[in-house]
Amino acid sequence: MNQFDGKTVLISGGARGIGAETARLMCEAGASVVIGDILDDIGAELVASLSGDGHQARFITLDVTRPDDWDAAVALATSEFGHLDILVNNAGIFLGIDFEDATMDDWNRISAINMGGVFLGAKHCAPALKAAGANSEYGSAIVNLSSIAGLVGAPLDPLYSMTKGGVSIFTKSLALDFARKRARIRVNSVHPGVIDTEMGQQTIDILGDRYTGGDMERAHKASVSRHPIGRLGTVTDIAKAIMYLASDDASFTTGSNMVVDGGLTAA
Ligand SMILES: NC(=O)c1ccc[n+]([C@@H]2O[C@H](COP(=O)([O-])OP(=O)(O)OC[C@H]3O[C@@H](n4cnc5c(N)ncnc54)[C@H](O)[C@@H]3O)[C@@H](O)[C@H]2O)c1
Repeated sequence: MNQFDGKTVLISGGARGIGAETARLMCEAGASVVIGDILDDIGAELVASLSGDGHQARFITLDVTRPDDWDAAVALATSEFGHLDILVNNAGIFLGIDFEDATMDDWNRISAINMGGVFLGAKHCAPALKAAGANSEYGSAIVNLSSIAGLVGAPLDPLYSMTKGGVSIFTKSLALDFARKRARIRVNSVHPGVIDTEMGQQTIDILGDRYTGGDMERAHKASVSRHPIGRLGTVTDIAKAIMYLASDDASFTTGSNMVVDGGLTAA
């Protein structure tokens, strides 16, 4: 038996990067997966590839700032697969704008996606997750993607850090709220270091622009050198942490902030 047999997972921002790898591993472990993203073409391609491999996967256009999109995503998951067991709040953006140049529009955009999207995801999925949790041995799960930037100071984008700090503490508070209500939904977060994705590359590009005079090789080395383990993270490193927190193996884990950063914040 596969670890996620019979489970339905909704992944926001699942068309590429960490979300796409999580979708693939979840499928390989037996889950039915709904991928929601604003990147329709890439999301549809991913679903075609997963379906071609014999997996149960669907794509839906989901802008995490839009409540109606969340309702449609939950409706798709429950109508196609009968229930919703796991929500991965993965969608996020990094602006990389110098704090002194950032505008209120920048703040409204990043906070709406990185924090508002997590709030709306949890709120709109809660009824379905509660229903599934009541019918399963170990309950349902939400995994939020925060960042090491939500735990320790990070100079590249203080607005991004503020949003991820919000996700970190929201995770703990929501876990307590559900536990107090006996809602049987565990809530945990994952805090990646720099991961080899488009967003990870964005952070290295900004490092290069600001600190190495455009020398991208030096910027890449500087980014790697911040990780004591000696390399950047891969999407698989993070997807596996998400899988653990979403799985029944983590049935006693709620309100935790799991760091997956090659030792970056251990120093
Ligand atoms: N890559 C890293 O180094 C890193 C480090 C720490 C945390 N994270 C976090 O991990 C998560 C995934 O990051 P990634 O590296 O895979 O990034 P990515 O940029 O490769 O993928 C992010 C996905 O989110 C989607 N998205 C953006 N805005 C959206 C919206 N309004 N509605 C729905 N989807 C939207 C994008 O279309 C994209 O598919 C993010 O929350 C990010 O903050 C990433």
